[in-house]
Amino acid sequence: MEKSLVLIKPDAVEKNIIGKIIDKYEENGLKVIALRMETISKDFACKHYEEHIGKSFFDPLIAFITKGPLCALILEGENAIEKIREINGSTNPEVAEEGTIRKLYAANNRENCVHASDSPKSAEREIKLWFGNLNL
Ligand code: CMP
Repeated sequence: MEKSLVLIKPDAVEKNIIGKIIDKYEENGLKVIALRMETISKDFACKHYEEHIGKSFFDPLIAFITKGPLCALILEGENAIEKIREINGSTNPEVAEEGTIRKLYAANNRENCVHASDSPKSAEREIKLWFGNLNL
């Protein structure tokens, strides 16, 4: 069993599709094992997205991800990291595969509804950052 960190971003919360997104994961055999909802600070957002510091899209990304409440989840399942990335689809909804969350619901490559850990190493780091208080 593998764990991954998923964010349901402020654009998706605003669109009232938290349930639709969680449903996609659950119907693909993934289990929600932790969940929190809050509006995060800029400092915390910079920690989450530290690998993107210095990139051209960094400042607007931080403004977007802190603009309202989001949901952070830990999902667990077989091959969870890869499976979730497939369910989410490509960063850019214009090229995302049919039926993926981003194809269905994302507006553009910033406001793209969901984030998921991209490797076991980032899953470990992100789960510790968001849910370090839990004894998992
Ligand atoms: P996410 O999977 O959360 O990881 C980094 C985020 O940066 C990404 O989703 C998008 O929201 C955003 N992002 C990545 N590339 C671009 C880009 N070229 N322009 C704007 N935003 C981007």
